[in-house]
Amino acid sequence: MTGRIQGLLGQTGKLHCCRAEMLLLIGLTLHAPLVPARAQDAPILPAAASQVHPEIWPKSAPAIINDSKLEANVANLLDRLTIEEKIGQIIQADIVHIAPDDLRLYPLGSILSGGNSAPNNNDYAVPREWLALADAFYDANRARGGTYVPLLWGTDAIHGHNNIVGATIFPHNIGLGAARDPELMRQIGQVTAREIAVTGEDWTFAPAVSVARDDHWGRTYESYSEDHEIVALYAGAVVEGLQGKAGTPNFLRNGHVLATAKHFLGDGGTQHGKDQGDTRIPEEELRDIHLPGYITAIEAGVQTVMASYSSWQGVKMHGDRALLTDVLKERMGFDGFVVGDWNGHAQVPGCSKESCPQAVIAGIDMLMAPDKWKELYANTLAQVKAGDIPMARLDEAVERILRVKLRAGMFDLPRPSERPLAGRFDLLGTAEHRAVARRAVRQSLVLLKNDNKTLPLAPDRHVLVAGDGADSMPMQSGGWSITWQGTNISNHNFPNGQSIFAGIKEAVEASGGTARLSTDGSFTTKPDAAVVVFGEEPYAETKGDRKTTAYRDLKGKDLELLRRLKAAGVKVVSVFLSGRPLWTTPEINSSDAFVAAWLPGTEGGGIADLLFSRPDGSIAHDFQGRLSFSWPKYADQVVNRNDPSYDPLFPYGYGLTYAEPRDLGTLAEK
Ligand code: BGC
Ligand code: BGC
Repeated sequence: MTGRIQGLLGQTGKLHCCRAEMLLLIGLTLHAPLVPARAQDAPILPAAASQVHPEIWPKSAPAIINDSKLEANVANLLDRLTIEEKIGQIIQADIVHIAPDDLRLYPLGSILSGGNSAPNNNDYAVPREWLALADAFYDANRARGGTYVPLLWGTDAIHGHNNIVGATIFPHNIGLGAARDPELMRQIGQVTAREIAVTGEDWTFAPAVSVARDDHWGRTYESYSEDHEIVALYAGAVVEGLQGKAGTPNFLRNGHVLATAKHFLGDGGTQHGKDQGDTRIPEEELRDIHLPGYITAIEAGVQTVMASYSSWQGVKMHGDRALLTDVLKERMGFDGFVVGDWNGHAQVPGCSKESCPQAVIAGIDMLMAPDKWKELYANTLAQVKAGDIPMARLDEAVERILRVKLRAGMFDLPRPSERPLAGRFDLLGTAEHRAVARRAVRQSLVLLKNDNKTLPLAPDRHVLVAGDGADSMPMQSGGWSITWQGTNISNHNFPNGQSIFAGIKEAVEASGGTARLSTDGSFTTKPDAAVVVFGEEPYAETKGDRKTTAYRDLKGKDLELLRRLKAAGVKVVSVFLSGRPLWTTPEINSSDAFVAAWLPGTEGGGIADLLFSRPDGSIAHDFQGRLSFSWPKYADQVVNRNDPSYDPLFPYGYGLTYAEPRDLGTLAEK
């Protein structure tokens, strides 16, 4: 038996693949492969067949009723495209590696701006440059001749339009999960879409509907919760906010953008929380824990799904036909398109950045090929001509992309700068948008400890504000903020934000108090209280993976600072900035009050809103946030709601309030 057939039959030898794989097998056998990117005798591995039983997966009810007029348009358009134009539709290049002029030769269907990509290769480009670049790409695509198909520009607007200097930046998903408020999510989606429309992009690679199960993972903060319940509650709402409500005239119109549910499937379930790793769990668990967010996203009409870098049971998702095609498209009825992740196809066995028929065959409709798009274009074209990629599969991918572009009304759109809201740079970080973000901050804070009613603080006293997070927009914003990892930036890159210190200062000064910033906690006049803001330095995917979740081992000096202040008889309020729960029992024991503030984004003022009472002592805002992640009892504990022997320090759902004060006392530091 050849390896190819063995792959389809699986280890048991039982035929468990699907109709399409059989066609592929026939297709591969009939055509002599002739592909420049690989040696003549190296066989193309078949699309991997994981052991999936589509019939046990749920069907979903996509929000969009099949529209026969639109489908006829799709078919007409497809008929008019040359094979080159079709290949162009399924390849996406990054703006750092493609110039508008390239579109005169290459009929690509999409571009993206990745985490470190910005106009003129300048992370700090001003909003006007983004819009000008969108116009330049539009013009070049228009000028090529042939059949006009609009170009889609995708960007990672994952907590606001976060690559843009001056945009409103919301708390990262982990904080939003604590708010448990789908209506808030809808508003955040709307605001984000409006700010994207200002700079002329069409599509965001959000929301992540990841369910992070092991907090060593550096993308834990992109996950709303370790439990699917909140993820499912939110996914549909945020999609509706971004895209508009399906079935209404505003759907994908008037300041709405395309959304992406990512990363399909099981990105948050990898062993040891390794980024891009292997999720080794039974099929039922994959379905029950990791799928629910996709169901509500699809039901809300999400138009794109991004494949995950990770594997399930050793099979890379980018090559997993059973999950991408048999489950997502056929069983669940998803009729938008599947986009690959950043060179994600290159990780499929037998593939490279430049060549991967396997991913197309498996069901990826658009390959994210940031840097090697030219080579991939040439190879994919040759592979279709040689029959290594069945023409029917190419057509199906292109149909899906055209369907989305037609649905979004893109064929009728003028230049980006002439579209609704475009060029309204005043809307970036406008007061109304910032108010939504500030409310999100208030709702996301979780009060872990408040002994002796330390909080709220009186606003008319003298407050010391210490810690290296106190006046740091980068630390409070985290990764995916102006730059990919959230590094190489400083406060001046956030012209519309307010640091946590600035928010505290504003609040106390308005009530006749004083606030002094002292990063190292030193003082000459003894303060009435110290607010110490500390936590993780910014990071994003991969680089944020941790060997340990004991905070002290990452940054021991903060514990010393807390102890020093305590020893001086100062009341200590800790505000902990982090992209995940970390073992912080020593820090909690050294604080009178302890707030998990996650990565709140640009609206630092939302923290002061909760820490201080009104001048008359009455409560201005009570805490509402409740943990959407279990807080660990010991270093490296991997603990999730509904575990058989569930023993966290603070359980899922925990969160103190002013209304019901409770003392914690000293916790065991084991
Ligand atoms: C890009 C990111 C991308 C990453 C993947 C970076 O250079 O800017 O968008 O996710 O590479 O390796
Ligand atoms: C990330 C995606 C992101 C893409 C584009 C990848 O490395 O995994 O989440 O959308 O880059 O920047």
